[in-house]
Order: sequence, then C-alpha cells, then structure tokens
Amino acid sequence: MEHHLPKSLSLSGKVAVITGASKGIGAAIAEALAAAGAAVVLSSRRLEAVEEVAETIRRSGGEASAFACHVGDELQLEALVEHAVGLYGGIDILVNNAAANPAYGPLQTADGPLFDKIMQINLRAPFLLSNLVYPHLRTRGGGAILHIGSVEGSKPSPGMALYSVSKAALEMLTKAQAREWGGEGIRVNALCPGLVQTRFSAAIWQNESLLRELTDRLPLGRMAQPGEMAALALLLCSGAGSYLTGATFAADGGWLLT
Ligand SMILES: NC(=O)c1ccc[n+]([C@@H]2O[C@H](COP(=O)([O-])OP(=O)(O)OC[C@H]3O[C@@H](n4cnc5c(N)ncnc54)[C@H](OP(=O)(O)O)[C@@H]3O)[C@@H](O)[C@H]2O)c1
Repeated sequence: MEHHLPKSLSLSGKVAVITGASKGIGAAIAEALAAAGAAVVLSSRRLEAVEEVAETIRRSGGEASAFACHVGDELQLEALVEHAVGLYGGIDILVNNAAANPAYGPLQTADGPLFDKIMQINLRAPFLLSNLVYPHLRTRGGGAILHIGSVEGSKPSPGMALYSVSKAALEMLTKAQAREWGGEGIRVNALCPGLVQTRFSAAIWQNESLLRELTDRLPLGRMAQPGEMAALALLLCSGAGSYLTGATFAADGGWLLT
C-alpha cells in the first residue's frame, strides 16, 4: 500500500545561503536550516556579527561559514555566491532576508533617494541575487528560494508605505520566478512575518502604547519571537515542501485578520 507520510525536513547534503543572518529572523532561519543538516553561508554587512552566529552553529555541531555582503552592492552579491560555491561546491537554497526601512513617515514627505534606497535593498537585491544563484540551483537539478516579505506587502500600515510597496513587489517577484523556474525544479515562496521582536521593529515594540494598541488587536495577543519563523522557513526550503511554490505564507499571529 502506498504510504502518505510527509517527506523529510532533512537538509543533509544541502547548501543554503542566507542574507541578513547576523541577527533576528535571518539568524533564526540560518540556525534552523543548519540544525536540519544544511551547510549554511551566513552574510550581512558586518563580518564579526555573522561570524558570531556561524560560531554558535558550529559549536552545536553544524556547518557554517560567515561572509560580509552588503546586498545593495552587486559585486558583493557576486562575491557571496562565489564564496558559497567555492567553499561547498554548489547552492541548493537561497533565503533573501536582508531588508531596510530607513524612515517612517507619510508618502508625501518621502523622496526619490528614499524610494531608491528601499527598492535597492528590499527588491533589487533579492532579484539580482536570485539571478546569480539560479544557474547553481539548475546545476543541482533544482532548489528553493525563500523571500522574506512582510504582512505590510498585503496591508500597509501608516508611515510604512514605500516599505510596503517593496514587499508587495517581492511577492510578485516570488510568483514570476516560480512560474519561470518551476520547470527546472526550483521552488520559490515568500514568508511574510507579522510583528517580530527584532532590532528592525524596535521603533514599534519599544513604544509601549503603540505595542499595546497593536497586540490588543492581534488574535494571538502578542508579537512573535524570531524563532517562530524558523519552522515555516524550513518547511518551505526542504523536501517536505516539495509541492509548494509561487505562494505567500503569513506567519503573523492573525495580523491580516485585523
Ligand atoms: N521584525 C519584524 O517585525 C518584521 C516583520 C515583517 C517582516 N520582517 C522582515 O524580516 C526580515 C528580517 O528582519 P529582522 O526583523 O530579522 O531584522 P534585524 O533583526 O534588524 O536583522 C536584519 C538583518 O539584515 C542585515 N542587513 C541589514 N541591511 C543589510 C544590507 N544592506 N546588506 C546586508 N545585510 C543587511 C542585518 O545585519 P547587518 O546590520 O550586519 O548588515 C541583520 O542581519 C526583513 O526582510 C524584514 O523586512 C520583519
């Protein structure tokens, strides 16, 4: 009789590249992929900071390497891919996690340079890095790309319009890549967190009254910790997620219901 057990979450023998892996959600995802057996290449702008996370992974028996990469610099993106392929012989998984939201404020006070900065980090970088990784995924006979979006991409909050626009476009990049690359066994998905307690969202959760106002509305009544994004990321990157592509998955405590 045919069995219908889920496929494995194991990433044994796989190589994963994660941007923005020095802290927060990126570090939590890197740790989860490494715990599942992947060799992970962690990157962010600060080598020391990613090296610390890589060392933690190695101490717990995982395989990890740290590499400095500002995702806004195309040459640094190329160097990151070369580093991963040179060290581990290929790439199976890419997690585009690094993002920026340099300013809060109404649209009419935003200008061209701010627009360009946000799009460069949140949209152009995932687009360019995916293209750089694509031939390597093909060589391996397929792989997975995971973009870290945001619930802001579906439902913009006041003061975060350009960030929301960038994350909405990232969802469309997810769909376009999934359509174009599915035939090569490359799956592409987006994981969209709600409010997660990280440095990135500190302006929100350090404001006590704002935090209370938000958590009062949230069905789960609290913000998330970075580790609460990890299991979904692992599912989307592993064989257990073999039929998942072109989709957006919210991990938001019910935020999109509010
Ligand atoms: N926290 C939330 O509530 C929340 C909600 C929805 C979506 N998200 C998304 O989740 C992702 C991760 O955010 P987080 O909350 O985990 O933030 P975080 O804790 O501040 O971490 C951001 C990471 O990105 C790196 N980074 C920032 N700019 C970079 C650049 N230009 N090039 C390379 N690396 C860069 C940072 O390291 P360095 O400073 O060393 O470069 C750090 O490792 C982002 O895509 C964000 O939009 C977060």
